[in-house]
Amino acid sequence: METTITFSVNGQPRTVTTDPERSLLDVLREDLQLTGTKYGCGEGQCRACTVLADGKSIAACITSIAEVENQSILTIEGLAKGKQLHRVQEAFLAEGAFQCGYCTAGMIMQAVELLADDPKLAKTDVAARMQRHICRCGTYPLILKAIHRAAV
Ligand code: FES
Ligand code: FES
Repeated sequence: METTITFSVNGQPRTVTTDPERSLLDVLREDLQLTGTKYGCGEGQCRACTVLADGKSIAACITSIAEVENQSILTIEGLAKGKQLHRVQEAFLAEGAFQCGYCTAGMIMQAVELLADDPKLAKTDVAARMQRHICRCGTYPLILKAIHRAAV
């Protein structure tokens, strides 16, 4: 049975009529054509699909669309302001913190949450906070460097 669900994505109100058990990731990628958020494992294990829901990181592949009703979703497409990249995006570019780039959107969204919680990284074990994110290319040292670079 389809249900109509309202939420916002990157500041835009959105309404979809769909199976409420569909994943947020499917809706983002297939219905809203926001393909920056990646499908990795589909089981909550790799975190390639990380987005923010009301400011908190979630794995979009294991979150149903019904669970985010009335929430504000932020995806990688919503970070830049016009041509001005978010400072975390700038830092990843400056450090070259990717190879294939498949994990990058999820890593960046997680870093945005982390830096919102602790802008100077004064009380955060960054490696521990990023531990759930898998980078098959093994770019972890540069990713950690980029996150520290983005700290104010
Ligand atoms: S695709 Fe969502 S955690 Fe792997
Ligand atoms: S850069 Fe390839 S998976 Fe991380």
